Amino acid sequence: MEKKEQIYEGKAKKVFGTENPELFIVSYKDDATAFNGIKKGTIVGKGVINNRMSNLLMQHLEKAGVPTHYVEELNDRETVVKKVDIVPLEVIIRNIAAGSFSKNYGVEEGVVFENPTIEFSYKNDDLGDPLINDYHAIALKLATPEEIETIKKYSFIVNDQMKAFWKECGVTLVDFKLEFGKLSDGTIVLADEISPDTCRLWDSETGEKLDKDRFRRDLGNVEDAYEEVMKRLTDHI
Ligand code: TMP
Repeated sequence: MEKKEQIYEGKAKKVFGTENPELFIVSYKDDATAFNGIKKGTIVGKGVINNRMSNLLMQHLEKAGVPTHYVEELNDRETVVKKVDIVPLEVIIRNIAAGSFSKNYGVEEGVVFENPTIEFSYKNDDLGDPLINDYHAIALKLATPEEIETIKKYSFIVNDQMKAFWKECGVTLVDFKLEFGKLSDGTIVLADEISPDTCRLWDSETGEKLDKDRFRRDLGNVEDAYEEVMKRLTDHI
């Protein structure tokens, strides 16, 4: 399959059309941003890792009953995906307090929740992706009540699956962000990516951060962390 015109360029990926109107090709970049694009940088080799990791995880999730946009990995950085209209919601699941949860609610990082939390942000860079609830999402017509229920159901399955999977790799899944899309027939599928850019992944033994927080917080060894977490995953599969 060949790339045709570029449809969109995001912070970490480009999206291209193909000869099939129902399929896109995504191309993963090494560009990294944080704080709504204020901090910019490069994580060498990130695009290759995120492409491969996201594809492996999505194939695993499909088997667990979560439909995804994944179709076929083309090469190191490029993957064929189903064409979707992205639902403009960022869905965040948390198992352990960290990041904005710790900051907003005054909870120390590392406090383990008895049950996972779910939250939504309105995916809108101009507004800084504000936190919203289900009622806001419906009022803003970002999704229907039924679509939100489906998205929640899938998100918790993703959490159960990924928590168990990463545990077997010696990695604790702290939290993560998902995006969903709608196929032309309205079916909701998991889209975007699942990678160290979009998950907090801590070494189960040492608590070492093996994700994009190393970039966000200038902790150093960013590339090493991405490589390490990818190695854990491929060693396990
Ligand atoms: P937060 O604690 O900063 O709200 O982040 C929660 C999770 O969401 C964390 O795993 C990182 C991920 N995330 C993204 O994927 N994209 C974003 O723009 C932000 C802010 C967080």
